[in-house]
Amino acid sequence: MRRAIIAGNWKMNTSLDEAASIVAELAQLQPASSANDRVIIPPFPWIVPLQHPLLAAGFSLGAQNCATEDNGAFTGEVSAKMLQPYCSYVVVGHSERRHVFGEADDVVRAKLLAVLRNEMSPILCVGEMLHERDAGQAFQVVERQLRSALAGSDRENLQDLIVAYEPVWAIGTGRAATANDAQQMATHIRQTLSLLFDAQFAQQIRIQYGGSVNAANASAILSLPDIDGALVGGASLKADEFSRIIDAAPAAKS
Ligand code: PGA
Repeated sequence: MRRAIIAGNWKMNTSLDEAASIVAELAQLQPASSANDRVIIPPFPWIVPLQHPLLAAGFSLGAQNCATEDNGAFTGEVSAKMLQPYCSYVVVGHSERRHVFGEADDVVRAKLLAVLRNEMSPILCVGEMLHERDAGQAFQVVERQLRSALAGSDRENLQDLIVAYEPVWAIGTGRAATANDAQQMATHIRQTLSLLFDAQFAQQIRIQYGGSVNAANASAILSLPDIDGALVGGASLKADEFSRIIDAAPAAKS
């Protein structure tokens, strides 16, 4: 069975006060325990102060990025090893990392390995750009990103992998993928995982959709047979809206 996982990626937003009030509101709106996984992914400096209120509210913590190495002379970097005492999840290969900061596939792979080495779940983001979709290359691009990120890993180490399909043209644009596009890509991701590993592994991995998810479209997206959750940006900054997205997630899928 695949439990739903709804994660809110706050990106480089919120003051500490704003962050604390979103968490306090979520604690009011959401039950303290849930059959689904609920995750907040705040900016690095808010991870420590938010840890207790989030855990008390039944939420887990994630980080938006990590270094490829565990420690050393890497000014400005934060390692997975440093995040491990606080976080259960780390996002790797988000499109803003790939396209704004120029992270290549091999860097994404090294970050994924750092997350696994430190016993957290990687949320591996994959997704095509608009020109790639228009050129009919969406499946190819996502497959390349997956193959590259997972090269050299074996299925035993990847049990807690989460794949987030985030078409770049849908992120922060208000234009979510159609249900059909999201489902087709999720199927393609499972087929690729099946080729790389095996069919059972492909069935057990959770796939999120991300890109302009909001309270109005969440239910249609989250009820797709191969989508097991959402990676939510903008709408996760509003407690009430994020809570409604969480409530739209059905129980586990098999
Ligand atoms: P969005 O961002 O929900 O604001 O489109 C999604 C993401 O970047 O993960």
